[in-house]
Amino acid sequence: MSPADPFSGSQALVTGGGSGIGAALVHALVDAGAHVVVADLDEVAAQRVADAAGAAGAPGTARAVRLDVTDAAAVQAAVDEVVARAGRIDLLFNNAGITFGGETEDLTLAQWDAIIDVNIRGVVHGVAAAYPHMVRQGAGGSAWGGHVVNTASMGGLMAAGLITSYVMTKHAVVGLSLALRTEAAAKGVGVTVLCPAAVETPILEKGHLGRFHGRDYYLKGQGVRRPLDPDVLAAEALAAVAADRPLLVTPRPARIAWRVGRLAPAFANRAATRFVAKQRRLQARRARKQGAAA
Ligand SMILES: NC(=O)c1ccc[n+]([C@@H]2O[C@H](COP(=O)([O-])OP(=O)(O)OC[C@H]3O[C@@H](n4cnc5c(N)ncnc54)[C@H](O)[C@@H]3O)[C@@H](O)[C@H]2O)c1
Repeated sequence: MSPADPFSGSQALVTGGGSGIGAALVHALVDAGAHVVVADLDEVAAQRVADAAGAAGAPGTARAVRLDVTDAAAVQAAVDEVVARAGRIDLLFNNAGITFGGETEDLTLAQWDAIIDVNIRGVVHGVAAAYPHMVRQGAGGSAWGGHVVNTASMGGLMAAGLITSYVMTKHAVVGLSLALRTEAAAKGVGVTVLCPAAVETPILEKGHLGRFHGRDYYLKGQGVRRPLDPDVLAAEALAAVAADRPLLVTPRPARIAWRVGRLAPAFANRAATRFVAKQRRLQARRARKQGAAA
C-alpha cells in the first residue's frame, strides 16, 4: 500500500551511499524530493555525494554521516536519529556491500567473516533498526509504514563459483527480503530486493584474490555486454519501490538467464561450472600475457 509518491518529502537513509549504486540512489531520491541521510564507512565520500546531491535547486536534501553497518548499535543510532529529528523513517536502503573474487580455498576466515558482517549482518542491522519503526508507523496496516529496499545482486538468484562467499551472502539477502515482505505487507510496510547484474561502479575492481578479474567475470558471466549505468538502476529501483514490486532483476538478458535457471536448475549449474572453467582459462591467458609483457 505504498502511496502514489513515496519519495516527495519522505525521510530516507541509504547505506553505502558514498559510492556507486548508493550514490546514484541518493541522487535519484533527492531529485524526487526526499530528505536523505547518506551513510557510509567512508565519510569523505558520503559528504561529497551529499553536497553534490543537495546542490541548489534540488527538491530534496542530503546530509552525510559516517556509519559502519557492521556496528548494530551505530545503525540503530543513525535510524533513531532520523526518527527523533523528523518524526519517522520512510525509506531504508540497505545497500552497503563488499565482494571477494577468486578461488574459495584462498579466502581466509577473516574474509569470510568480513563479507558475512557487511553483506548479511549489515542488512540485518538495518532491518532490526528501522522495521519496528515502520511497523509502528503502519498502524496495523491502516497507513503506509515505509519501505525497506535491500541491494542483493543477480548473485543472490543464481550461483556460480569464484565469488562463492558473495553469492552466499546475496542469497541470504534475497531470502530475508522476500520472506519479510510476506509479513510486512499486512503491516503497511513494503520490501523490495534489487538484483542487478554488473553495474559500472568501483566494486568491479575490488576484492580480487589471485588472478581474479572482476570485469571479465561480471560481464562474461551474466550475459551482458557492458555494466549497467548506476543512474539507470537507481531510476528502475525507485520505480520498483513506487510500484511496490518484490524483486527487481535487471537488465533484460539477466532476467532471461534467471528465468531459464529457475526452469532448469541442473542445466544452469552445469552452465555455471563451464563458466568457471572458462574464467580460469581467461585468468591463465591474462597471467601469461602479463608475464610476457613484464
Ligand atoms: N556494481 C555491481 O556490479 C553490483 C551488482 C549487483 C549488486 N551490487 C551490490 O550493490 C551494492 C553497492 O555496491 P557498489 O557496486 O555501489 O559498490 P561500491 O564499492 O562502489 O560502493 C559500496 C559502498 O559501500 C561502502 N561500505 C563498504 N563497507 C561498509 C560498511 N561496513 N559500512 C558502511 N558502508 C560500507 C563503501 O565505502 C562504498 O562507498 C553492494 O551491496 C553490492 O554488492 C553491485
